[in-house]
Amino acid sequence: MSRLAERLSGQPAGAMVPRLFRLADRRQDTADTFTMMLEPTDGVLLEFIPGQFTMLSAFGVGEVPISVSSAANVDGPLQHTIRDVGAVTHALSNTPVGDVVGVRGPYGTGWNVSDGEGGDVILVAGGIGLAPLRPAVLEVLRHRQRYGRVVVLYGTRSPADVLFADELRRWDNLGVEVLVTVDYGTPEWMGRVGLVTTLVKRAGFDPRAALALVCGPEVMMRFTAAALIERGVRPENVRVSLERNMRCGVGLCGHCQYRELFVCLDGPVLPFDQVTGLLGIREL
Ligand SMILES: Cc1cc2nc3c(=O)[nH]c(=O)nc-3n(C[C@H](O)[C@H](O)[C@H](O)COP(=O)(O)OP(=O)(O)OC[C@H]3O[C@@H](n4cnc5c(N)ncnc54)[C@H](O)[C@@H]3O)c2cc1C
Ligand code: FES
Repeated sequence: MSRLAERLSGQPAGAMVPRLFRLADRRQDTADTFTMMLEPTDGVLLEFIPGQFTMLSAFGVGEVPISVSSAANVDGPLQHTIRDVGAVTHALSNTPVGDVVGVRGPYGTGWNVSDGEGGDVILVAGGIGLAPLRPAVLEVLRHRQRYGRVVVLYGTRSPADVLFADELRRWDNLGVEVLVTVDYGTPEWMGRVGLVTTLVKRAGFDPRAALALVCGPEVMMRFTAAALIERGVRPENVRVSLERNMRCGVGLCGHCQYRELFVCLDGPVLPFDQVTGLLGIREL
């Protein structure tokens, strides 16, 4: 059987048909980033694991892959935190509360945070990358006693781009070491200025049994992974989330393919040592 036939036969009937979710609420997080709170019109909650994504459609405009940003295994609306960058994300940002959008999935691999049980967990985010990592942080906090130190390192362009500021404070109050830095400060900004990679050296964690989860622009993930490995984290314990152009999300169209990898199926979350050669390769 060919690889495509194998993938086709593995797809459940209706894998390409979106379910309908109503926009229950919408929160503007920063000037260009917002969170959609979605409720299924059929009342059946979407089960997912932290790190997975859905294909979200604005009907009549298009469909895009977006990571789930809400907590897994708890009641409440399905959340997606989205940066308005183009046609579909703009249409989603203009969707009125009460309207319906399409959701396919969830798809892809997750962070598998339980692999870090017994050791320290370091989560490093750049920009919108904090959104896909949020469910991982919440999962660790749900089983706090199973983990050692928990560290969140977060870098954004400017103070105005800091996502989930209240939640970062809450995590800090819960004993998570939260270090935030910005590329460009403002006169009012009293925090750190500089690249997030510089925080890897300062954070308090034992690298020997640490699990590191990294999400952000590819260049940031590359340098962060290098800094983590230099600090002593095992390369196989560093995980990154890849972003590639996607159409089907289920391994059929080939849009997300890189050599032997289909990012929608084999990723988006992958061990860094498996993707070192892929980071930085431009899409075709
Ligand atoms: C697995 C996965 C998870 C994602 N999770 C999130 C998320 O949680 N929040 C979020 O805001 N975005 C996320 N993205 C990125 C999001 O899918 C793109 O921003 C979106 O597809 C852009 O579509 P558009 O029609 O609005 O813009 P377009 O008009 O298609 O593009 C606008 C600009 O964005 C660039 N772009 C388009 N798609 C991508 C992409 N996949 N990666 C990088 N640049 C792209 C284009 O080159 C162009 O410069 C994720 C992508 C993947 C693959
Ligand atoms: S998006 Fe179609 S194969 Fe991955």
